[in-house]
Amino acid sequence: MSLKFEVANTTEQGGRRGALSLPHGVVQTPVFMPVGTAATVKAVPQDALETLGGRGAEIILANTYHLYLRPGHELIRSLGGVHKFMSWRRPMLTDSGGFQVFSLAKLRKITEDGVEFRSHLDGSKHFFSPEHSMTVQIALGADIMMVFDECVETPASWERTRDSMALTHAWAARSKAYWEAHRHEVPWHEERGGQHQALFGIVQGGMYADLRRESADRLVEMDLPGYAIGGLAVGEPREVTREMIALTLEHLPKDKPRYVMGVGYPDEIEEYARMGVDMMDCVLPTRAGRHGLLFIREDPNDRRSAVVRLNIKKQDNAQDQRPIDEGCKCSVCQRYTRAYLRHLFASGEPLGATLNSIHNLSFYLETMERVRVDLAGA
Ligand code: GUN
Ligand code: ZN
Repeated sequence: MSLKFEVANTTEQGGRRGALSLPHGVVQTPVFMPVGTAATVKAVPQDALETLGGRGAEIILANTYHLYLRPGHELIRSLGGVHKFMSWRRPMLTDSGGFQVFSLAKLRKITEDGVEFRSHLDGSKHFFSPEHSMTVQIALGADIMMVFDECVETPASWERTRDSMALTHAWAARSKAYWEAHRHEVPWHEERGGQHQALFGIVQGGMYADLRRESADRLVEMDLPGYAIGGLAVGEPREVTREMIALTLEHLPKDKPRYVMGVGYPDEIEEYARMGVDMMDCVLPTRAGRHGLLFIREDPNDRRSAVVRLNIKKQDNAQDQRPIDEGCKCSVCQRYTRAYLRHLFASGEPLGATLNSIHNLSFYLETMERVRVDLAGA
């Protein structure tokens, strides 16, 4: 078995407490996955990731688009795959490059066959198809890979969204066919007892309920090991995001993992986990951390109180001897003061980005741990 998903308890609202077993280990769900775009969770060393918030990050994400461009998937394959390359022993997931080609690359030309684009790094020309995305993702060797999809811009008309969704479905079928034919080529296939990677589908359909439903139904027919909900957090109001997630969840199988891509704020990930989302990822904790924005609880002694943001660069932190968040158990809050973190940020010291990111990621993981306890039921 290369993926096993067991749901231990489901609440009335549909929230699930589960365990996802993958070739590199077991992930307790619902889970938040730190983003390690270029085979690094920016500014955070692997040993810190392993201890964040107690059990540490149990799975991290990397990006096919970035690693294909630099250092190249062939190099990573020759070094034994992305786990060995970055010395990460736990599960990983790679996004397909679909979203990144559309958000980062320049001068895209989209055809039924795939996408031609120019690198955001040096302007060089490249072509991604579902087959090529699978080739790259198999060479990288994450435990979970994603189908190559198109994420439509927002707002987009119903017709434009339908056409884009149809392309995503055709690409999902081609991704699946390629995965089935080539999955034994993953670098750790023999070392891990003949296991292979799992492939997840991605539901699109923009902000249209009928298209979301149709997209979920088409992908479920493909009988993939798991399903993601994509095309969200692209500028729509939060109520719309929630509504799209709620109605899509109803159309996804209850016995397979369900992943919402690219969300969100700490209170959002908590809300979606309680609705029945098993996996989420977002650059927010690390990106905000690098910009000196720290997530804390309004009442540090009440971990269910509102999430507020502390801007570390503000002058009023200059003499503040308190930790970032007095109720946070993270290694940063156990050791350092706001005054010191403000100094690091103001001086442009790289340690500031590291410590801020560690706190924010710990805050996310602590939030998810509390949700998992709640979802486990009495
Ligand atoms: N990350 C956030 N949203 C998306 C999406 O719609 N597709 C893919 N592939 N990745 C994403
Ligand atoms: Zn902390």
